[in-house]
Parts: sequence; C-alpha cells; structure tokens
Amino acid sequence: MIKYKYTEFYIQSNIFFFNQKRMAVISIKNKTFVIEDKCKHRGGPLSLAKKDELAEVLICPWHQISNCVLHLNKKNYPSLIIGNKIKILEKIVI
Ligand code: FES
Repeated sequence: MIKYKYTEFYIQSNIFFFNQKRMAVISIKNKTFVIEDKCKHRGGPLSLAKKDELAEVLICPWHQISNCVLHLNKKNYPSLIIGNKIKILEKIVI
C-alpha cells in the first residue's frame, strides 16, 4: 500500500538535508526544482552548477557535464516553497 505525507520545515539557503540526503533548490527557466544535490555523472554538487538558461541546462562544476531540465524534472521532489518554508510530498510504502 502506498501513502503520501507532507513534511514541512524551514530552509535557510538553497541547500538543505532531507531524509539524510543533501538537497538543492534550483531555479532555471522560470521553473524551480527540488532535487538531490547530485550530478548524474559522479555526484558533483548541482547547487554549484553554472546555469545555461538558453540551453536549459545546469553545467556541473566537477566535469562540466550538462544536466538538462528534462533530467531535473524526473528527479524533482514534489514540493511547495513559500518564502523560507518548504513542504515536500513523500511517498510511503507500507
Ligand atoms: S560529477 Fe558532474 S560532471 Fe562529473
């Protein structure tokens, strides 16, 4: 059985920890993503990535591989951000 619950807390920057994972809030092309702060290549910090708004990609600071918006969309945690408060929807498998 699958259930969902919201976890709500305050964040002080675009990086925070959630379920022992380092998370990042990243805005690109008027979209905001809440994703694990980990590049698809070798786990580089996407929170430090360079944004290429035209190509809609984040360029990882470690090896300069592009992480496109479509990839970020797949990794996005459903969430709601209001000011410095964030609500993340979690899936719980019972
Ligand atoms: S870890 Fe991101 S490009 Fe290698």
